[in-house]
Amino acid sequence: MQYLGLGSALTAALVSLADAVPVTDLPIAGSTTSDVFPPPSTTVDAKLFPPESVVGYPGTTVTGIEPAAAETATSYPYNNGSTGEFPLIAPAPHGQSSHSSSFDIKKYWGNLSPWYSVPSTDYGLPESTSPLIPSGCDITQLHLLYRHGARYPTSGAAPASFAAKVANATTTGFNATGDLTFLADWTYKLGAELLTPFGRTQNFLLGVEYRQLYGKLLNNFTAQGAIPIFRTESQDRMVKTANNFAAGFFGVPEYLDQVNIEILVENLGVNNSGAPYEICTNADITSRGSIGSTAATTFANNAFNKTLARLNSEVSGITFTPTDAIAMLELCSYETVALGYSAFCDLFTEQDYLNYEYYFDLSFYYNNGPGSPVSAAQGKGYLQEFVGRFTQTYPTAESSLNETYDDNPTYFPLNQSIYADATHEVVVLDTLTAFNLTPLFMGEPLSLDHNAHSNSFVASKLVPFATHFTVQVLECPAYQPTKQMRFIVNDAVVPLNGTYAGCSYDADGLCSFDNVVSVLQTRLDEIDYDYDCFANYTAEAGVNYNGRAPRNADSILT
Ligand SMILES: *[C@@H]1O[C@H](CO)[C@@H](O)[C@H](O)[C@H]1NC(C)=O
Ligand SMILES: *[C@@H]1O[C@H](CO)[C@@H](O)[C@H](O)[C@H]1NC(C)=O
Ligand SMILES: *[C@@H]1O[C@H](CO)[C@@H](O)[C@H](O)[C@H]1NC(C)=O
Ligand SMILES: *[C@@H]1O[C@H](CO)[C@@H](O)[C@H](O)[C@H]1NC(C)=O
Ligand SMILES: *[C@@H]1O[C@H](CO)[C@@H](O)[C@H](O)[C@H]1NC(C)=O
Ligand SMILES: *[C@@H]1O[C@H](CO)[C@@H](O)[C@H](O)[C@H]1NC(C)=O
Ligand SMILES: *[C@@H]1O[C@H](CO)[C@@H](O)[C@H](O)[C@H]1NC(C)=O
Ligand SMILES: *[C@@H]1O[C@H](CO)[C@@H](O)[C@H](O)[C@H]1NC(C)=O
Ligand SMILES: *[C@@H]1O[C@H](CO)[C@@H](O)[C@H](O)[C@H]1NC(C)=O
Ligand SMILES: *[C@@H]1O[C@H](CO)[C@@H](O)[C@H](O)[C@H]1NC(C)=O
Repeated sequence: MQYLGLGSALTAALVSLADAVPVTDLPIAGSTTSDVFPPPSTTVDAKLFPPESVVGYPGTTVTGIEPAAAETATSYPYNNGSTGEFPLIAPAPHGQSSHSSSFDIKKYWGNLSPWYSVPSTDYGLPESTSPLIPSGCDITQLHLLYRHGARYPTSGAAPASFAAKVANATTTGFNATGDLTFLADWTYKLGAELLTPFGRTQNFLLGVEYRQLYGKLLNNFTAQGAIPIFRTESQDRMVKTANNFAAGFFGVPEYLDQVNIEILVENLGVNNSGAPYEICTNADITSRGSIGSTAATTFANNAFNKTLARLNSEVSGITFTPTDAIAMLELCSYETVALGYSAFCDLFTEQDYLNYEYYFDLSFYYNNGPGSPVSAAQGKGYLQEFVGRFTQTYPTAESSLNETYDDNPTYFPLNQSIYADATHEVVVLDTLTAFNLTPLFMGEPLSLDHNAHSNSFVASKLVPFATHFTVQVLECPAYQPTKQMRFIVNDAVVPLNGTYAGCSYDADGLCSFDNVVSVLQTRLDEIDYDYDCFANYTAEAGVNYNGRAPRNADSILT
């Protein structure tokens, strides 16, 4: 450290002034020690809450090639909103000028969109509605359910098959011109399953944001002499997600000693509310849990003809199919969130992006939303846990709950002021369906052949990277009863009147805590987990099942 030409003694003195001042936790004037987190003598317990290396079951982890956007991108990610969302670069749709287009392609990528704020007006509340605590109320408790940030494609997803097809064509020789010229030199650089650098920032920033919004609730832990438990699953990206959230919330390296991160095993056959498809038979190995994927594929077969004709006219020695159109659109999304930039984005028009979004809408509405016969059953585990925390009662072991982790204060505390569980987008949507938050799905079941715009459901608003469902529990002296609560999805407040019996219209989306809990308990009784997950019924896309299986089964499968 001699680069300023200072003598080493002087350097040492400067360093000690700047960095090495001993830290003493003195409360600021006017506050008391009860306002300082963490409380004295608290520490994480690595025996009760072991790290990823001990828990195991990280799932598939495939490292990608290092990004090189400084060389590959056609513009630089200036932090002034001109090229996309810093540090990403995303162009205007094909045929539009980046100077005049206001169409943000990233908002039409379904579950591959980076999360963005959704206005409460989308679900019927006035423009004045805000996620800020309504004046006159105090927040007493926060429950957060959030998804991992951007990741590589899951194993076996379309982009890798497309890459293999291009590699094949390269060996036999293909020519590309015009917009597709880049394809001659293009190689596949993505890994699989892991969180990307941008994905890490999403969870980190969510942690920073929630500390700023709700840090005051840490004082409850100080009063109790405890540190929080935040939960996640064992897949590598899920562990890293919870760590990045905690790093943003508590700081680096403080998070290493201020929160116990509880890692629940995600693996076939293991009960886990955060990975219910691992034990709900109908969700996985039968067609009942994937009627949305089938509907989406059928829709895509007709949606990109015009663009495919243009792209096919620019190549010889390879022919692109509707499956390839989806794969190239996914490459646009994945390369952008993994590498910072993608040459594929430029190939598609505004209409293509609208169709791409609808492809995801169909997939998620019928796989994990109200059009699915197994979504409420899969969301039941989290619904039981939310209700357990609301009522300070351990949930009974059924659905995908893991009794070991749900029936004792060590692993399932009932007295926290802040809860934060990390999971997958399918489970977040299953949970919203289990909660029966119908304003999110208001209108006709989604049309299978075109976007009729007759439903409030939009996938990128509910299941994007780092999507988050927030429950605020409030004390509002002006209300009767004073204990109120409300639900917020990606900053949109969800109205409860006309949806939850006994909740009347409230511009802030508030309803009596006790009333909401009783509505949710009724909903729990209504969701027949065993039937929906294990019975041999027939279900089809095109119907709003309210997330529950039709009663047409001839037997229970085992
Ligand atoms: C952003 O910064 C770049 C580089 O200075 C500049 O070329 C561009 O015009 C700026 N865009 C906006 C919207 O300010
Ligand atoms: C690659 O070419 C071989 C031989 O023509 C074919 O069997 C295989 O299915 C092709 N693979 C892909 C991914 O197109
Ligand atoms: C919650 O209760 C448990 C056991 O009753 C106690 O050990 C723990 O410190 C409490 N935690 C908080 C955050 O109050
Ligand atoms: C509960 O989870 C543990 C590990 O996290 C696992 O070993 C056990 O099998 C699970 N229980 C059930 C019933 O799946
Ligand atoms: C689109 O192309 C497919 C063949 O890939 C064809 O079956 C279908 O009829 C076309 N759809 C429209 C709307 O042109
Ligand atoms: C590609 O272009 C070269 C040079 O024009 C030509 O010889 C070759 O046949 C073309 N290949 C295909 C698959 O069209
Ligand atoms: C595991 O899940 C099954 C349903 O899939 C449920 O019947 C059982 O009670 C759960 N077991 C435990 C120990 O949580
Ligand atoms: C947290 O502390 C505040 C202030 O004492 C209190 O009003 C609130 O009920 C506490 N929250 C919980 C969940 O105990
Ligand atoms: C909730 O109340 C508002 C205001 O009265 C009304 O416009 C809206 O239709 C109601 N929502 C439902 C689902 O009934
Ligand atoms: C499930 O139901 C279908 C249609 O009713 C029937 O054909 C099939 O044999 C049943 N499968 C099982 C395993 O019971």
